[in-house]
Amino acid sequence: MTWSHVDNASWPTSGLSYGADYNPEQWDKDVWKDDVRLMTQAGVNIVSLGIFSWGLIEVADGEFDWDWMDEIVDLLADNGIAIDLATPTAAPPSWLLASHPEIRPVDHDMQQHWPGARLGWCPSSPVFRTYALRVVRALADRYGHRDHVVMWHVSNELGGGNGRCYCDTSAAAFRDWLERRYGTLDALNKAWGTAFWGHTYRDFAHIVPPRGNDAKNPSLVLDFDRFSSDELLAHYLAEREVLKNVTPELPVTTNFMVGAEPDVVDYPRWARHMDIVANDHYTRSPDPLPEQDIAFSGDRMRAMTTQRRPWMLMEHSTSAVNWQPRNRAKTPGELIRNSLSHVGHGSDGVLFFQWRASRAGAEQFHSAMVPHVGEDTDVHRDVRKLGRYLQRLAPVMGSRTPQARVGILFDDEAGWAMAKGVKPNNHLAYGRIVRDWHCAFWRLNESIEVLLPWSDFTGYEVLVVPGLFLSDDETAARVRTFAEAGGTVVVSFFSGIVDEHNQVRLGGYPGAFRELLGAWCEEFRPLQEGETFTLDNGWSGAEWAELVRVGDAEVIARYSGGHLGGHPAITSRPVGAAGRAVYVSAALDSDALLALARSLVSPSEAANVPSGVEVLVRRSDEETFTFFVNHGGHDVVVRAQGLEMLTDVSVSGGLQIPAGEVRVVRSGT
Ligand code: GLA
Repeated sequence: MTWSHVDNASWPTSGLSYGADYNPEQWDKDVWKDDVRLMTQAGVNIVSLGIFSWGLIEVADGEFDWDWMDEIVDLLADNGIAIDLATPTAAPPSWLLASHPEIRPVDHDMQQHWPGARLGWCPSSPVFRTYALRVVRALADRYGHRDHVVMWHVSNELGGGNGRCYCDTSAAAFRDWLERRYGTLDALNKAWGTAFWGHTYRDFAHIVPPRGNDAKNPSLVLDFDRFSSDELLAHYLAEREVLKNVTPELPVTTNFMVGAEPDVVDYPRWARHMDIVANDHYTRSPDPLPEQDIAFSGDRMRAMTTQRRPWMLMEHSTSAVNWQPRNRAKTPGELIRNSLSHVGHGSDGVLFFQWRASRAGAEQFHSAMVPHVGEDTDVHRDVRKLGRYLQRLAPVMGSRTPQARVGILFDDEAGWAMAKGVKPNNHLAYGRIVRDWHCAFWRLNESIEVLLPWSDFTGYEVLVVPGLFLSDDETAARVRTFAEAGGTVVVSFFSGIVDEHNQVRLGGYPGAFRELLGAWCEEFRPLQEGETFTLDNGWSGAEWAELVRVGDAEVIARYSGGHLGGHPAITSRPVGAAGRAVYVSAALDSDALLALARSLVSPSEAANVPSGVEVLVRRSDEETFTFFVNHGGHDVVVRAQGLEMLTDVSVSGGLQIPAGEVRVVRSGT
């Protein structure tokens, strides 16, 4: 795979990036002056401009009005604020939707989207593509060579609204995609197992996307997911090509939505087309551990860059979002703690949605860097404080997180395959399973990376394969090689069940890892709601158990009581000289997972910090930056040596971390 990430020399800002989506079009011009005054005061050095401005730039078909944008581009330049200029294609103008209603996407139940939201376009529509590329070209020609336009932000959260389109245009494109993928109908029929229900296809023209609500062939559904991701990627690449033609030197990115669930598109497979990998991350409520959600997304982001290069936090919120049933306001200190956690996890920037809270429109009650009340607010005071902190943290730029000890495998295709179609327990959620394992090691303050099937596995002590429902032979072989080289592999229940075509691997689950594990599952024994199980070592759990048979593995724990009583639950098999392969057949609760995780890694110093303190490390050739994030409600003291960067105090021995705050210690390597 080739990667094209920019190096730090071409990072768009000279210090850590600090800013927001900026939507000046929502405000009168006298507000713009106040905006730049407040931005300068807060240390904002970059804004994402023009994301939803298509209807205001191209006011009628082919008729452009640049006046307002010229003015704001000049104003930002005059005030030394860099622009991450967005192509405005996320929100087509009303005239385009009116003149070409066919571009609107269609849901699986064949309901066409109405105008009025955003991303209301079919990714396969040639009509939309033509209009989109025209406005992109016009924008690039007009502003691409301005000095302070430092980066391109393609569209916005591609797939957030148009992730799957089932219209006839999409259906035709899907058939073309299938012909390219399989070559012949025979190959497709075999891969999809279409003899089931006699669905064998006799002509590519007979294939339709998985429309409707009834049970569909899971192999078809998975390929439609892959196709949909590829179609949106093709759109991104088409815009990118236009931009690169005009400004080959400017980095191009688009904002991902990487969290704990399988993504709407396959970001890991998109990432190599980004010059800088950028993410939008929002904590959700209720979530007992939003800080672990932040850690999880950061640990995923690093695997999408080359060699743990910095990535960019393109959006998060200063306080409440507006799209949840109950929108929780952040607690005092949380804005700064969240932001610096992202930096500790490898982001070289902190950007928010958005600069100024909107008066009108669908996001009226979303928090912002400038709240409705104005600058005399706790949120805005924290925004200014964060700006000062980020300036002090400038030396962190370009440093990388060191090699982690724990790798956790994550794959969107596996997640899609698990999420769609009927399963033995339809309450199992891929993201939940992976996040539970991540949480166990996170609670130990372990360094973790959430790896991709094709990541380099060397250097990790432990490789966890949680709920990797779909696994191809190559991934299975790479996992085996890791154990043979002396690593500890941990495979959880419901991994390696199907191959890349979503067909079950026979002979005992998990087929992809059975030989490596020396144990197999003969029958799934999902639990009913409210049921629990216990093991003979006292651990317990719910939702999932299995009837396990053992070959040459040893039994670590057995089910206790019930119809599985006495049967193996957790097994371990030595591999090569020093490796081992552990199988966990049951969905353990968090305390059991914590105990298991503790038994799998060698002791580390980070595990000895006071509880509630997260330790994150970034390193350059000469220096180490240690972030201590106190998520707890009490002041604590940690052992540290060096210069504390936020308070500019030198530390030798004990460093106090006030409740809810962060400290960053700079020291030699
Ligand atoms: C996303 C979008 C933004 C905004 C925020 C609100 O991240 O990219 O435009 O809608 O959500 O949380």
